[in-house]
Amino acid sequence: MPNHFLHITDYSKDELWGMLQLAKEIKTKFKNREEYKPFKDQSLAMIFAKPSARTRISFETGFTWMGGHALYLGPNDIGIGKREAVKDIARVVSRYNDMIMARLFSHNHMIELAKYSDSPVVNGLTDYNHPCQIMADALTIWEHRGHLDELKVTYMGDGNNIVHSWLQLASKLPMHFVCCGPEGFEPETKTVEMVENTGISTFETSHNTASAVEGADVIYTDVWASMGQKEEAEEREKIFAAYQVNETLMSQTGKDTLFMHCLPAERGREVTNEVMEASYSIVFDEAENRMHAQNAIMVSLFK
Ligand code: CP
Ligand code: NVA
Repeated sequence: MPNHFLHITDYSKDELWGMLQLAKEIKTKFKNREEYKPFKDQSLAMIFAKPSARTRISFETGFTWMGGHALYLGPNDIGIGKREAVKDIARVVSRYNDMIMARLFSHNHMIELAKYSDSPVVNGLTDYNHPCQIMADALTIWEHRGHLDELKVTYMGDGNNIVHSWLQLASKLPMHFVCCGPEGFEPETKTVEMVENTGISTFETSHNTASAVEGADVIYTDVWASMGQKEEAEEREKIFAAYQVNETLMSQTGKDTLFMHCLPAERGREVTNEVMEASYSIVFDEAENRMHAQNAIMVSLFK
């Protein structure tokens, strides 16, 4: 296995299943308050160029629970790629720390960080992808449905970093993935072609909400304006309005459908308050599983 976790596609289907299985085992240990300290006396540097709640809290809590020490380096601390070159930061930080988790704007910076780091690097989100999130999502659906076979997952909204990681998962596990949103906001063509070429899953772009959600096992959404695009939020609100996940849309699936969102949610925009609070909404299980999925990822990097 490569010793970084940058993309879902860096791993085989068996390796991904191994991580999900391990996540379940580690979650059980955590729930039972068993002692589990694979990172005793080790340190994790967490570099954040963007804000975060879940990623920061789950990595810090998880790594600390597993016996280590996690160090938070916020947007104003080390100035990665601004105050200092990414490759210099990589070599300096990896001399102090056993592992690096980073949330960056540029995906190329993430690749550069991994290239020059002597310690494993875990991708905690870039403008391009968010692989830890999608591992937690897969774990959550597996827990709720008991399997991950041939699911129809309909994503409503912007073809962003979340979608790219979903597409990478779709190149490993068979599913029907629909990305439904306004024209001009589709996921990156190269990633779509990669999924189509592997032929493991089927992918569809849609602008028709009713047909997109029909038969969906999961409806997933994310903010219409991601970090780094917040100045476009007002304009995007008009463009994306028809793609809001509300109770009417949820009732059009003809199925028992789960609602998911990576969070943070902007209630009243991409999703209504009612859907967030509904019994079919598993957004907080999803958030909880971030920690267990990531703990498994970090442990796997040292296997
Ligand atoms: N889902 C997620 O990554 O949340 P944060 O941005 O709060 O870390
Ligand atoms: N697409 C969102 C995900 C947040 C976890 C963003 O990049 O801001």
